[in-house]
Amino acid sequence: MSKRKILVTNALPFANGPIHLGHLLGYIQADIWVRYQRMAGNKVSYVCADDTHGTAIMLSAEREGIPPEELIARVNQEHARDFAGFHVDFDIYYTTHSDENREQAELIYQRLKDADKIAQRSITQLYDPEKDMFLSDRFIKGECPKCGTPDQYGDNCESCSSTYDATDLKNPYSTISGATPVEKESTHFFFKLPEFSDMLKDWTRSGVLAPQVANKLAEWLDAGLQEWDISRDAPYFGFEIPGESGKYFYVWLDAPIGYMASFKKLCASRDDLEFDDYWSKDASSELYHFIGKDIINFHALFWPAMLETANFKKPNLISVNGFLTVNGQKMSKSRGTFIMAQTYLEYLNPEYLRYYFAAKLSSTPEDLDLNLEDFAQRVNSDVVGKVVNIASRCAGFINKNFSGTLGASLAVPELISEFQKTGDEIAALFEAREFSKAIRLIMSLADKANQYIAEQQPWVIAKENPQAEEVQTICSTGLNLFRILLIYLKPVLPVIAEKGESFLQVKPLVWEDAQSLLTDHEIGRFEPLMTRIELSKVEDMVEASKESLVAEEKTENPTDTAAKTALGKDPISAEIEFPNFAKVDLRIVKVINAEHVEGADKLLKLTLSLGPNAAGEEETRTVFSGIKAAYDPQKLIGMHTVMVANLKPRQMKFGLSEGMILASGEADKVFLLEPHEGAEPGSRVT
Ligand code: 2FM
Ligand code: ZN
Repeated sequence: MSKRKILVTNALPFANGPIHLGHLLGYIQADIWVRYQRMAGNKVSYVCADDTHGTAIMLSAEREGIPPEELIARVNQEHARDFAGFHVDFDIYYTTHSDENREQAELIYQRLKDADKIAQRSITQLYDPEKDMFLSDRFIKGECPKCGTPDQYGDNCESCSSTYDATDLKNPYSTISGATPVEKESTHFFFKLPEFSDMLKDWTRSGVLAPQVANKLAEWLDAGLQEWDISRDAPYFGFEIPGESGKYFYVWLDAPIGYMASFKKLCASRDDLEFDDYWSKDASSELYHFIGKDIINFHALFWPAMLETANFKKPNLISVNGFLTVNGQKMSKSRGTFIMAQTYLEYLNPEYLRYYFAAKLSSTPEDLDLNLEDFAQRVNSDVVGKVVNIASRCAGFINKNFSGTLGASLAVPELISEFQKTGDEIAALFEAREFSKAIRLIMSLADKANQYIAEQQPWVIAKENPQAEEVQTICSTGLNLFRILLIYLKPVLPVIAEKGESFLQVKPLVWEDAQSLLTDHEIGRFEPLMTRIELSKVEDMVEASKESLVAEEKTENPTDTAAKTALGKDPISAEIEFPNFAKVDLRIVKVINAEHVEGADKLLKLTLSLGPNAAGEEETRTVFSGIKAAYDPQKLIGMHTVMVANLKPRQMKFGLSEGMILASGEADKVFLLEPHEGAEPGSRVT
C-alpha cells in the first residue's frame, strides 16, 4: 500500500494559562495516533500552536504589566516545554500571532467577502465606560433577574440555572473595573452560517465525526443556525480587519486558521512538504483534527463552512475527546486534583499517564476518569508487572550464561505466530483510535508470554545446568515475545521502547518488525525499563497541587487573579468601585491556637478569635494558612492580625478553612499584618 500523507492537528491551547492534565488527554491521544501512523510507514505532519488572541489574554498581560507579545512568548515556551515533557512530539509548535496566520486569515476573510458571505450591521452591547471597552458576558456580573442571587455572570445563573441576556441583570457591574456598564452600539461583521445548513447536515453525517458528536450537532442544525459574529471592537489583542479601522477578527476566526499557518511555517523549513498538497480542495492527503468536546461547534460548523467558501479542503476526520475527571469528580483545586503538567512531572513519569490514558481511551467523546489508585495499580500491574517483567525474567540468563547472545532457534512457534498475527488487529484498533481495546489485546498477549515462562521455569533448569541450551531457547523466546510487545506498545510508551531498543541492540522498531525475529543476536545488559508507581508520590503530587493554590490565593485579590511579574512585585490591580471593596469583611482577630498540620509542607492550622458574639460566647474560626516556612506556631499564639471573615469556607484535605488571614510576601518571607496596639478582636477594619 502506498504511503498515506496525513496532517494532524491538536486544538491550540489559549496562551494565558498553564497546561494541566485535562489538556493532556487530547494531546496524548493524538500523539499516540501519530506515532502509530509513523511506525506504520505513513507520512505524518503533526502541528500545533498557541491560541494567542482575545480579550482574556489582553487583560492577563495588562494585569502583569507587560505587553501581550511578551506574555504569549513566555507562555509559548512553557507550553512547548510541557508537551515535550509528556513526549507529545509536534513537528512544529507555533503561535497564531504570526505573519503566516495574519496573511491566511486576511485571505480567507477576503474570500468569504467575495462570496458574499459576510454581513454587516450595528448591534447594541454592554460597554464599560471606565475601561472604554465592550464587555462580553464573561466580564459582566450582577444579580440574577429571576432569583436575585448576586454575582452571576452575564449569560446564566449558577444558582437557579436560568439563562438571560446580560442586559437583564440587576445592578450589573464590569468585572474588569467594577463600573456600571452602559448600552452602546457598534458595527459588527457576521459570517452567514445559516446558508451552509444543508451542506453541514450532510457533511456532519459523512463519517467525519463519531455518531454521538453528529447527533449533538444535529440538535443545533435542526434548531436553525445563527449568523456568527466574527468581529470585535478595539481595544482587542488580535488582527485588525483589513479596511475596517478599530475592528478586529474575533479570536475564534483566526484560531483554526492557525492550523494552516503552523503548517505553512513547517513547509517553509522542509523541502518535502507542499502547503497545497494538504490544503487544496482536491488534495489527496488526509486532514485530522483532534479536539475536546467543548469546541465542536467551532470545528464542525464554522470551520468547514469557512473552508468550503474559501476553496480549501475540509477535514477528513474530527476526533473528539471527552473531559477528564479525577477520582470520579471534576478536577478541583481545593481537592488537589487540578494537576498542572509541571507538577505532575515533578513527581511522576509521564509514560505512566500515557499508558493509563491509552488503556481507557476510545474513539467516542466520553469523559475519562483518572482514578489515582486505579492508575497506580493498573500501570504497576500491566507495564511493570507484565511487560517489563518478561524482559527482566529472561535477560539475566542470556546476559550471564550465554554471553549476551540469543539462541539460534526459538520455541513455541504457534505462540510466536499468534503474537505476530495479532499485529493486524492491534493496528486496526490504533487506526480507529480504539486504544483501550488495543491495550487489552496487547496485555492478553503479555499474559500468555508470562504464562509460557512461568510454565517453562528456566530458573529451575539453570540451577542444574546454567548453560543448558533449553534455558537459552526459553529465554530467547521470551525476549522475542517481549520485543513484539514493545513494538505494539511503542506508540504509547516511546521512551520505554527506546530503552528496550538499546537493550536489544536493534534499530528503531517499526510496525512491520513484529513479523521478523531476533536469533543469534547479541543483546546489551538489561537495565530496569520502568519502576513502579509509588502511591506516596501520587499523594505528594496531589498535596503539592493543593498547596500551590494556597500560595496562589494569598496573592490574589477578589477581582484580580493576576500572576506575579518577573520583577517579583505585583502590579497594582485594576481599580474597583467602593461597593465592591466594601463587600470584603475584614476583622481584627487574635490567634488563640496555632499548630503544624501533619503531612502538609506549607500549612499551619490557626484558631482565631473574633471576640464575643451577640450571645456573649467567644466566636472562633479555623483557618489553614500557607505560612509555615515563616512562622513558628508557638510564637503566633496571642498575636493579633487581620482576617477576611466572609470568605466562603473551603474544604481542604486537612479540614474546613473558614477564612483567610492577611500577609505580604511569600514562602519564608511572609509578614502577617498586625494592628496597632489596642485593636479589639472582632472589630471591623474599615
Ligand atoms: O478551547 C480552546 O482552548 C481554544 N484555544 C482551542 C482553539 S482550537 C483551534 F481552533 F485553534
Ligand atoms: Zn438565578
